[in-house]
Amino acid sequence: MTLEPIALGNGVSITWPVALSPMAGVSDAVFRGLCRDHDCGYATTEFARDRAVLMGVPDQVALCDVRTDTRPVGVQLFGASPDELRRAAALVMERWAPDALDINMGCPAPKVTSGQGGSSLLRDPGLATAIVDAVAREIAPAPVTVKIRVGWDDAHKAAGAAVDVARRVVDVGAQLVTVHGRTRTQRYEGYADWDVISQVAAALSVPVVGNGDITTPEEAAHRLRTSGCRGISIGRGARGRPWVFKQIRTYIEEGVQLPDPPATERVQLGLEHIRRQRAYERMLVDEDSRYKRKPEAERAQIADMRTLGRMLAHVMWYVWGVPGAAVARRALSKCRSGSELEDVLSDFAARPERYQDVHVPEHEAQALVAADACPE
Ligand SMILES: Cc1cc2nc3c(=O)[nH]c(=O)nc-3n(C[C@H](O)[C@H](O)[C@H](O)COP(=O)(O)O)c2cc1C
Repeated sequence: MTLEPIALGNGVSITWPVALSPMAGVSDAVFRGLCRDHDCGYATTEFARDRAVLMGVPDQVALCDVRTDTRPVGVQLFGASPDELRRAAALVMERWAPDALDINMGCPAPKVTSGQGGSSLLRDPGLATAIVDAVAREIAPAPVTVKIRVGWDDAHKAAGAAVDVARRVVDVGAQLVTVHGRTRTQRYEGYADWDVISQVAAALSVPVVGNGDITTPEEAAHRLRTSGCRGISIGRGARGRPWVFKQIRTYIEEGVQLPDPPATERVQLGLEHIRRQRAYERMLVDEDSRYKRKPEAERAQIADMRTLGRMLAHVMWYVWGVPGAAVARRALSKCRSGSELEDVLSDFAARPERYQDVHVPEHEAQALVAADACPE
């Protein structure tokens, strides 16, 4: 099976259209980098709020920073005002120059939908269209892409909402549409409806990327073969498993099924991730005018604390399924800095036998794994 590259405006080419999905709190710059190193062909940032970007809120502006990304890469914004989104898009393009600007029309979180953004836009195609129109005109010839769900709820889905809104946003300039096959009501429960994703792919004149529940090379190949989508996007299936992209590529291109890396390699990858994260946080702290006058040791400490915040969930995913993981997770959950996290994971790698024989009740082990839901 061969995958055709996806060509977008401004000369942007996604040569391997197997992408990492945007995931708030997960698909940050460092994780995107790890996935790209493992044959992920495209990535989009976690979503940033248009108004906060316009106001210069440091954390939200930082979400759009794609300086260290492998290209092409997209930045995702959410909002509900065509003018604010237009201005935020212009600012992001000027400051970070991503290859594409993605508009979120899928987030189910009430804090987003109550302001008419995210998946609320599916119920207001007029506003969705006005937003894409405004952003497309503003950043042309750079491409605008859109991420939708298959509807607000089952009735909305059955009424053809996804095809309707997708057609309308394409009419005003969206160059690629990603479809997550769940309704807003489903949030992250149940299954993605690939029949509806296929209907959208068949209805549009632009490439469609299908998304939902792909975790293995076989599922990836199956969806690409049967859905009519030009590409696929993987979210939760990549957490703690950036190598899944290499497995998918090898399977699609060579028909070879690579096994999961052995436990030792997975833990080593977790350690590599922590080190990259600390270096990245250190770069951001050193650039931040708020910390300019702080002594070196204090800046290092700030970077280390931020590393903990960013990495705790990731390391829990890396040790998933590794013998002794329940005990390791308990120790990891008590860490108070990125360095401690690295020490515990290094110890787990060096002396796994110390983690084997202690019984951790299943409910306690489960509680130590970070929650799956979209932050609300
Ligand atoms: C923790 C989490 C955060 C997410 N954040 C975003 C986001 O910022 N923007 C977005 O478009 N989708 C977001 N999503 C949805 C994913 O991009 C994806 O559509 C969804 O998880 C379904 O794909 P999957 O079954 O491969 O995980 C998020 C999902 C999760 C689990």
